Amino acid sequence: MQSKLIIAIDTTDPTIMKNMYNSFKDNPNISFKIGLEVFTSLGLKFLEIFEQPEKVFLDLKFLDIPNTVYKSVKSICRYPFKFITVHSLCGEEILQAAIRGRDEAQKNFTTKTKLLGVTLLTSMDENNLTLFSSSSTLINITELAKRIDRVGFDGIVCSALEANFIKNNISSELITVCPGIKTREIAGSNDQRRVVFTDELHRFQADYAVIGRSILNSPKPISTVNNFFKESNYEYHRGIAQ
Ligand code: C5P
Repeated sequence: MQSKLIIAIDTTDPTIMKNMYNSFKDNPNISFKIGLEVFTSLGLKFLEIFEQPEKVFLDLKFLDIPNTVYKSVKSICRYPFKFITVHSLCGEEILQAAIRGRDEAQKNFTTKTKLLGVTLLTSMDENNLTLFSSSSTLINITELAKRIDRVGFDGIVCSALEANFIKNNISSELITVCPGIKTREIAGSNDQRRVVFTDELHRFQADYAVIGRSILNSPKPISTVNNFFKESNYEYHRGIAQ
């Protein structure tokens, strides 16, 4: 399958933000992830650069008591963002509160912001997971993914390495949004543990690939993005299309 691309805008430099937006805003297969770095520096003013909330994945990873998550999600869903994220670690009630907040804010919207459940950060491995669980990474992710599916979330943030398992064993309907993906040309920093390279991505059912530093730090972001679509294409790998 061919993954769509989400560029993680992890920078506070407005020139880089504007360049990224202007270079890729017209590509229907590309959206932008605005995370804590941009949000804590600009707040919602980032929408003055990223003018179309429908093309923005707002990744604030909500994790709080259900009432606070409900109110925060309700507040942010005044805007029709493409995706927002909520942590799934602390129980179903928080996820249900997020659905309520989204639905109340967007009852008159034709398309609703999709809710993504965060399982385990891709920077975590077995060593730091043992702090709060003796189960393996896959068991933890399986239980969290079942929870995310059960409450009726639209999708899940997971490593591409887990995407096939989730699609085949939990639900083929859950949208898989996968960070921890790198191009081989830009090595980047090595804080991500469960990494997949773009030329391996065609083997995994990742609906969306989230890529930050490999594109932001590239000397030629447009050619890096073109290479991403070429390298990650299943048909290309089978030699059917060039
Ligand atoms: O630069 P890089 O491609 O590693 O960026 C990955 C992006 O994905 C970052 O914005 C990070 O916050 C995000 N992310 C992640 N792991 C998750 C969820 C989000 O790395 N589980």
